[in-house]
Amino acid sequence: MSERKGSRVPGFHLLPIEERQALIARLAGLDEAERTLLASERPLPIAAAARLTENTVGVYALPMGIALNFVVNGDEVLVPMVTEEPSVIAAASNAARLARPAGGFVAEADPPCMIAQVQLVDLPDAHAARDLLEAAAAGIAARVDELVPGMVRRGGGARGTEVRVLQAPDGRPFVVVHLLVDVGDAMGANAINTIAEQTAPLLEEISGGTAHLRILSNLADRRRGRASVRYRFADLAMADRPGEDVARGVELASFFAEADPYRATTHNKGIMNGIDAVALATGNDWRALEAGAHAYAARDGHYGALSTWRVDGTELVGRIELPLAVGTVGATVEGNPRARLALKLLGARSANRLIEILAAVGLAQNFAAVRALATEGIQRGHMAQHARAVAAAAGARPEEVEAVATALIAGGEIKVERARRLLADGLPTAGRRR
Ligand code: MEV
Repeated sequence: MSERKGSRVPGFHLLPIEERQALIARLAGLDEAERTLLASERPLPIAAAARLTENTVGVYALPMGIALNFVVNGDEVLVPMVTEEPSVIAAASNAARLARPAGGFVAEADPPCMIAQVQLVDLPDAHAARDLLEAAAAGIAARVDELVPGMVRRGGGARGTEVRVLQAPDGRPFVVVHLLVDVGDAMGANAINTIAEQTAPLLEEISGGTAHLRILSNLADRRRGRASVRYRFADLAMADRPGEDVARGVELASFFAEADPYRATTHNKGIMNGIDAVALATGNDWRALEAGAHAYAARDGHYGALSTWRVDGTELVGRIELPLAVGTVGATVEGNPRARLALKLLGARSANRLIEILAAVGLAQNFAAVRALATEGIQRGHMAQHARAVAAAAGARPEEVEAVATALIAGGEIKVERARRLLADGLPTAGRRR
């Protein structure tokens, strides 16, 4: 395992923000401009914002934090996360810390193959059209490659076609052609939509029909990420319960999510809390990820869990698999300086590396939520975060926040007035490990 110094920083959350920034800049090897950008309170110039969307009148900001402790395929990873939800970043960091002794996360990504869909209607004979389209696969692939010469030069391009005959409710058949395309390090939406539109005339010619919809599919199930992790019982032990009980509790929670769509939806929401936060930080389309993830969860006609947890000997083993259509190049990533910075912090030089990290973060986030639910309940951690916010609102300095929050929780009264009294009366020093 490469022990690049990096993601394990005990007490990070107790440091003043400027020190956190300086430390992260050093660990990630940021240059001067990147350091300034990290610390800037104006992360997106309005002119850049106006290039990303339309009718721009301002910039909306969200916090960016760093999930620590991640080891993915033996590499230390700092994980930038953008989220408005308290506890997400602390929970991911905690889950990653507990995974370290057994080696962290093992993750992999499929080749970056996306799907363009073309719907062909008004066909003289849908089944004959399908046969003709299948026979013309090589010519269709050549047309796709002509449209994306840059992608082909970089090793991507056409990877085949699939043709299906589907039926409208009134029984009329239509044909759907899938153009499979390796998009390299791009998310690929633009390239795929262009391919769908510009290959359509050829498909019309071959089939004798009319091209109707021409668009990518967000069920990017040829571009899946997978991750697994092993937690040793010994590392799962809590003050009031042995690690084996924790592991069996998480397994039982997994059975619930696997069997029940109501629970699976919430289980998967917990996974996406982590994945979306990294997608947002890196300028990726989190709506596309959400759509793909939930459709994949229902691929067997039953909405189920995207991850599973099983006890194996003296360990708890978690696995996750889901479509992850993200990119490390393209206008939204490259047009947003913070997104480029987030990729630098992650050290993700390829889309596949980003996919591996996303899968690992999703699994960590899921573990943290399910472990809490299976043991002390979710509110305790949330209360800790709430208590920190109350302490800050009462005027606690960053170095005082943790002690005030701890005292508020101990006293069972998490109120700004109480925090003010604690600050006025003087505090015991306190800190919590994360
Ligand atoms: C909250 O944002 C996410 C959880 O509900 C996930 C879960 O229940 O597994 C805690």
